Amino acid sequence: MTGNELREAYLKFFAEKKGHLRMESFSLIPENDPTLLLIGAGMAPLKPFFTGKMKPPRTRVTTSQRCVRTGDIENVGRTARHQTYFEMLGNFSFGDYFKKEAISWAWEFLTEVVELPKDKLYATIYPKDDEAAAIWREQPGFDPTHIVPLEDNFWEIGPGPCGPDSEIYIDLGEERGCGEPTCGVGCDCDRYLEIWNLVFTQFDRTEDGKYNPLAHKNIDTGCGLERIASVVQGKPSNFETDLLFPIIEYAAAKAGVEYGKDAETDVSLKVIADHARSMSIMIMDGILPSNEGRGYVLRRILRRAVRHGRLLGIKDTFLTGAVDAVVKIYQDASDFGALVAKQDYIKKVILLEEERFQATLTQGMELLNEHMEALKKEGGKVLGGADAFKLYDTFGFPWELTEEILHENGLELDEKGFEAEMQAQRERARSARKANQRVAVPDLRDRVDVTKLRQDESAVEAKVVCIWKDGVLVDELKDGEEAGIILDVTPFYAEGGGQVGDAGLLISELGRVQVSNAKKLPDGTVYHVSYMEEGMLKVGDSVKIEIDSVRKLASARNHTATHLMQAALKKVVGNQVNQAGSLVTPERLRFDFSNFEPVTEQQLADVEELVNEVILKGQDVEISHMKQDEAREKGAMALFSEKYGDIVRVVTVPGFSMELCGGSHVKNVGQIGMFKIVSETGVAAGVRRIEAVTGAAALAYAKKNETIVREASELLKCHADDMTARITTLVDENKQMSQKLDEVRKAQEKEDAQKLLSDAVEIAGVNLVKGTVNVGGMDELREMADLACDKLENGVAVLGAAIDGKVNLVVKASKEAVKKGVHAGKIIKEMAAVVGGGGGGRPDMAQAGGKFAEKLPEAIEKAEAVIKEQLK
Ligand code: ALA
Repeated sequence: MTGNELREAYLKFFAEKKGHLRMESFSLIPENDPTLLLIGAGMAPLKPFFTGKMKPPRTRVTTSQRCVRTGDIENVGRTARHQTYFEMLGNFSFGDYFKKEAISWAWEFLTEVVELPKDKLYATIYPKDDEAAAIWREQPGFDPTHIVPLEDNFWEIGPGPCGPDSEIYIDLGEERGCGEPTCGVGCDCDRYLEIWNLVFTQFDRTEDGKYNPLAHKNIDTGCGLERIASVVQGKPSNFETDLLFPIIEYAAAKAGVEYGKDAETDVSLKVIADHARSMSIMIMDGILPSNEGRGYVLRRILRRAVRHGRLLGIKDTFLTGAVDAVVKIYQDASDFGALVAKQDYIKKVILLEEERFQATLTQGMELLNEHMEALKKEGGKVLGGADAFKLYDTFGFPWELTEEILHENGLELDEKGFEAEMQAQRERARSARKANQRVAVPDLRDRVDVTKLRQDESAVEAKVVCIWKDGVLVDELKDGEEAGIILDVTPFYAEGGGQVGDAGLLISELGRVQVSNAKKLPDGTVYHVSYMEEGMLKVGDSVKIEIDSVRKLASARNHTATHLMQAALKKVVGNQVNQAGSLVTPERLRFDFSNFEPVTEQQLADVEELVNEVILKGQDVEISHMKQDEAREKGAMALFSEKYGDIVRVVTVPGFSMELCGGSHVKNVGQIGMFKIVSETGVAAGVRRIEAVTGAAALAYAKKNETIVREASELLKCHADDMTARITTLVDENKQMSQKLDEVRKAQEKEDAQKLLSDAVEIAGVNLVKGTVNVGGMDELREMADLACDKLENGVAVLGAAIDGKVNLVVKASKEAVKKGVHAGKIIKEMAAVVGGGGGGRPDMAQAGGKFAEKLPEAIEKAEAVIKEQLK
């Protein structure tokens, strides 16, 4: 059986004999799945059917899914099985059949359709899966001693559906084995080959690694087409099957080498064969080379193939021939119609990228060889990040390629250093962008006939008239570059009149450009602030235009709402309201206007209500062009400082607002949905500012407030309607409580003071009051010391308090005590030392702070000792 026949046999078996819906392979680009860069398993595009998020078209589905996995790319060509591209045959049950059918159908297909020898087949199981073991034992002709429990029989690919599995192996014969006594199923050698995986999908793994049981049990299976082909066709590796070998033959002929003579030559031939399929099919699915994401995976694969071509001695570009070989393999296969249809396109993309890399490969390799020799001489092992970065930046070596070449030579790459260089470059680019915010525009006079440029809101296609980068005109743009682009016709609204420009995409045959804004040159020419996301773009290319219409409509809502609000302000606040500035973005509107007083709450509420009333009427917005005088006569609002031509554009909401304006507006005011003022502030003398939101943003605003209210009402344990009353009560209660607390504290202080006085001790004719007291602050502590000294003759007060975990100390001495030799400053100095602080003061009064509250009693004892000394 050929590879194509095998695929057909499998799909037919499950579709026609077992009731599955045969679906086409999904694209390699995952849909709505940010957890995956590329589809890497048959089940990956079906995740929502497993989790129950979406209803499958049938509960049984079968596919032959194209997959790309690059985790083990360095092994490609070095083993019999590793590939970056492969096809996975799969039959899936979404809450339909389970283990019993899955196992017996796999057995039936392998032994009756493909007719593999029963005695050579083995089944591994998850150790405690007695159910699977029992089902295996029932299979006709299956040797029950061929059941092998394996601890790691659990299948998952990142977050998503997963579960224990049972894998089918075939024994390819002793001569293929490693000969070790431990050799058996699961051994890394080539003897036992896994050909089928039955996953009993029962869990949904979350992003943070939790395994949630699924509502129903599923079956996910995978049978690698190339593997099964190698078994059926009796080939030593996947590369000799008819799904890959023709590419090897092509590359060998191109290089003038023979397959099977030299191990390293074979590695390169296999790498080229595998990579040629990956890149062709990735491009078929719409991926273009770039320095990010999927585009980077493609670039890395392609450049790795080019390098292996070089290793074989191929000097020219050669990959387009490999693409022809790929297309030939699949030309009659189902699901690959696009490969044939896009053959020329794929070759074009590949040739451009190949030429680009070829141009620098020789120099880059020379440089890398120099580095490696220097390292070896010095006895060093690690290539520095800066050197690797130069190879990447100047010579287009994906860092993984540099790393791989280093590994081949027993060396390492300083990955961290490389990443630091990358980061530094990103920073440089970012600050250059900042410095350049007003995209430097070159002199276009000789290059562009501006009279031929048009603006047309309905345009969906255009030609690239000119491109510039850093203020210099260029002929082409490469991925990762930023530029200004002029089109012969553009539907983009260019920034102006207070409204931000449109954003969107320009899609050419070979590239994809993100437009973040459109701007106008002084002569009115519109240019597009652009970023080449992937692929490339040339002057003269045709592009399809996709304006970000969600964003545009959001801006239009805010713009029309600004007109309505201005009219409403005039009606509610007064005719003195005049526009002093305005900003319209997709997120919100901001309107500055002349008015000396803040707009009152009531006025704001009235304005909001009036605008919403107009919105609810659902009138069409009328746009007309007329002579300026006529417009003024009709009462159109306009900013006198703005310059208008003789013919002006007038935007009218009949019966309510009429303004001269060039901006984007909704077709019908009803599209605004809802208008909500979010703030009113003053920005300068006599200038007020209102910010408001509409549409989805107004809903989001309402939702946010709703959440706040809900959380607050939960905390207050009352219904939202009763919240104000509840808060008023709480505030009152709080006030009363602090008053009470104050009273209690005062009484306590009084009591403390009395106790201190009654506990006074006499030292050499001086009365000492000492102790720790409860007070709210240093002032009160001082007051208390004053009070104590007033009440005593020959008094000294030594008081301490712990306030908020810190120590406060005060020593106060009466005149008589000072005369007798007491020195408050000196006392406190020694006390402070005990509590880990500092302080000092006069003989009659001193204060200090410290850290160790628990040492307060010790500090007070110390004071007593010092006083005794002073009075000696
Ligand atoms: N999803 C399983 C695998 O890829 C079948 O092995």
